[in-house]
Amino acid sequence: MIWESFDSYAALSARAAEILLAAIRRDPRAVLGLSTGRTPIGMYERVVAECSRRYRCFREVTTFNLDEYAGIPGDHPGSYCTFMKRHLFEHVDLQPRNTHLPHGDAPDLAAECARYEDEIRAAGGLGVTFLGLGANGHIAFNEPGTPFDSRTHVAELSEETRRANAASFAGGVPAHAITIGIGTILDSAAIVLLASGANKRAAIERLRAREIGAEFPASALWLHADVTVLACPHHSGPPLGC
Ligand code: GLP
Repeated sequence: MIWESFDSYAALSARAAEILLAAIRRDPRAVLGLSTGRTPIGMYERVVAECSRRYRCFREVTTFNLDEYAGIPGDHPGSYCTFMKRHLFEHVDLQPRNTHLPHGDAPDLAAECARYEDEIRAAGGLGVTFLGLGANGHIAFNEPGTPFDSRTHVAELSEETRRANAASFAGGVPAHAITIGIGTILDSAAIVLLASGANKRAAIERLRAREIGAEFPASALWLHADVTVLACPHHSGPPLGC
């Protein structure tokens, strides 16, 4: 695990954007795993700025988001689909057919999970996956206790996680989400974890301590050979939706 520390959220975001842009320059047909939340907003801003200056960055890139709330349609203002359109998809030349998120409003959620996992496999698996870090150590929506070999599944969100994401939902955060599993994440060729904010300090320290166990999902990353952690524990990111 490679650790890179930053003094500012801006510096962390610039580095994350540099890694993403390098990945798609190296392989214009890259398959990226993408996350949502406050932390990656700065990374997306820089990627968009860079790609609108240049040209056709994303023309053949494929993206898979890690998770989506269950029980709401993609066009719900709090959905991760809406988030991705606002922060990335509407600003770069990604082909809509190459962007993937689980369908949180699918009538059969178990079937939807299986379909999403198959879709990732059919695309050749995730190349570089960008993760955020929950204050309780969750990655994507894999809450504490999730087995390390889990695949895409329906997760019950903890009270803490629902509170942390309350800003996006006037009427309460959904109780469940579809998330790719920890096993799915660990199958990525490379993983970049972004952790910024005073509320992440304890989780960053816990990860650094290398205590590996299901009670702290991010610790699974120690089992992967190519993980870069970008940490900025002294600065909180911008508010969601900025
Ligand atoms: C949510 C998302 C995660 C994200 C995490 C951290 O629960 N499902 O993918 O990494 O929150 O979010 P933030 O960056 O807003 O702290």
